Amino acid sequence: MEVSFLLNGETVLVSQPATRTLLDWLREDRSLTGTKEGCNEGDCGACTVVVQDGTSVRALNACILFLPQLNGKAVRTVEGIGKDGLHAVQQALVDQHGSQCGFCTPGFVASMVAGHAQGRTDHDTVLAGNLCRCTGYAPIIRAARSAEGAALPEWLKQDAEWVAAQQPTGAAPKTSDDLAALYLANPDATLVAGATDVGLWVTKQLRDLDQVIFLNQCDDLKTVEVTDTAIRIGAGVSMTDVRALMAEHHPSYAEMIRRYGSEQVRNAATIGGNIANGSPIGDNPPALIALGAMLHLRKGDTRRDLPIEDFFIDYGKQDRAEGEFVEAVTIPKSAPDLRCYKLSKRFDQDISAVCGCFNITVTDGTVTAARIAFGGMAGTPKLASATMSTLIGQPWIEATLDAACDALATDYSPMSDMRASATYRLEAAKGMLRRYFAQSYGLPTNVLEVEV
Ligand SMILES: Cc1cc2nc3c(=O)[nH]c(=O)nc-3n(C[C@H](O)[C@H](O)[C@H](O)COP(=O)(O)OP(=O)(O)OC[C@H]3O[C@@H](n4cnc5c(N)ncnc54)[C@H](O)[C@@H]3O)c2cc1C
Ligand code: FES
Ligand code: FES
Repeated sequence: MEVSFLLNGETVLVSQPATRTLLDWLREDRSLTGTKEGCNEGDCGACTVVVQDGTSVRALNACILFLPQLNGKAVRTVEGIGKDGLHAVQQALVDQHGSQCGFCTPGFVASMVAGHAQGRTDHDTVLAGNLCRCTGYAPIIRAARSAEGAALPEWLKQDAEWVAAQQPTGAAPKTSDDLAALYLANPDATLVAGATDVGLWVTKQLRDLDQVIFLNQCDDLKTVEVTDTAIRIGAGVSMTDVRALMAEHHPSYAEMIRRYGSEQVRNAATIGGNIANGSPIGDNPPALIALGAMLHLRKGDTRRDLPIEDFFIDYGKQDRAEGEFVEAVTIPKSAPDLRCYKLSKRFDQDISAVCGCFNITVTDGTVTAARIAFGGMAGTPKLASATMSTLIGQPWIEATLDAACDALATDYSPMSDMRASATYRLEAAKGMLRRYFAQSYGLPTNVLEVEV
């Protein structure tokens, strides 16, 4: 597959297999070995590079980034970041003693450069996807802090000008109409959106994907429409952009997304990919189910809408026909009662053991509506129907809460795995419901979860 992008200020035209990763190509074909391979699965950040796409400057993990995802974009590796003299964050790392063995340093530099370009001051979040074994994080965070407000490098502007002058190229579909036709004709092809799942099939499972269709040039899949009552989110909207959108409309959901993977993962991952993969521990589905989201599917010119909970049929099985893809999802614009709780072993950059989302309306002391959904409690993300029935029409008091907690065991028979035992999961789910109850009355709570 032919791909054209800007690498450290130089236009490159490469012809490579569709699933060749940027990391392998940089290190093996270009001898740009500053970008390191640590985990090769998006967890450690050693491979982080800076990518400009015309609207943003973002950090991405090169190990799970396929070359065709870069068409028309500008990439900076650590070699290009310091080409015309040290970037302010590099100088700050030197001054603050932010590097020891140096293995992680290029990745940290790339994340810090992207954060600096965005004017970020939430350095913990910016750097949550970069691991360092020897320096310790305090000097690195100090470096990021001390570089705040320093002048932006000249190459940032030059790269942006190059990107602005590009026309979409290559064989990948440019619109959802193109995609619909191509996928209908090739229903066995693998769709690739952000590749934060598909990338691992290649790097960890060593799978050969015969035919792939890249979605990243379908700009109409990246659109968001906000009306008086609803928000329609295109399948190609990244989790970074979903987080920004939710911060305005559903802050508890946004706060949960802050703990979804890392900055680099959220910059790549799309909401459509997270829904389509049907993972029982994906973080969007429980929130979307609790919100009463409507999923929009498309096959050729035929479209259908589905309450999102009906999409998840069984473990690994979704209601999606051959050649059909997720086009968008629509949620209510307002849901003031929504709260989302993510429980994982690590606070940052970890998959949920249990993710619980609650949307319970109480009017004059009585529960008038309730939508509750969990991830990590069944083979699919799942609505807590029995629990909801126990609540609706009842006074919002502790006795009702107790009955609802008991009903959770009717709704779910969770499994035990490396993340949590079945017993722990059920107790955690009850704890989340109790926390929701306490928070609704402004009472103190003691369950570990995200503070909004
Ligand atoms: C380090 C790391 C941390 C992670 N942390 C989290 C986390 O905290 N929470 C969480 O929920 N997930 C997490 N994930 C999983 C992953 O980020 C998500 O599942 C992601 O949203 C997938 O989106 P994508 O765009 O990258 O999908 P891709 O990898 O491109 O595709 C995923 C699947 O969906 C299909 N697909 C993609 N788009 C469409 C579409 N529009 N229509 C139909 N099918 C489509 C693909 O064919 C594939 O089967 C993590 C992943 C990594 C690597
Ligand atoms: S090598 Fe670890 S995130 Fe890429
Ligand atoms: S400086 Fe050695 S891993 Fe970070």
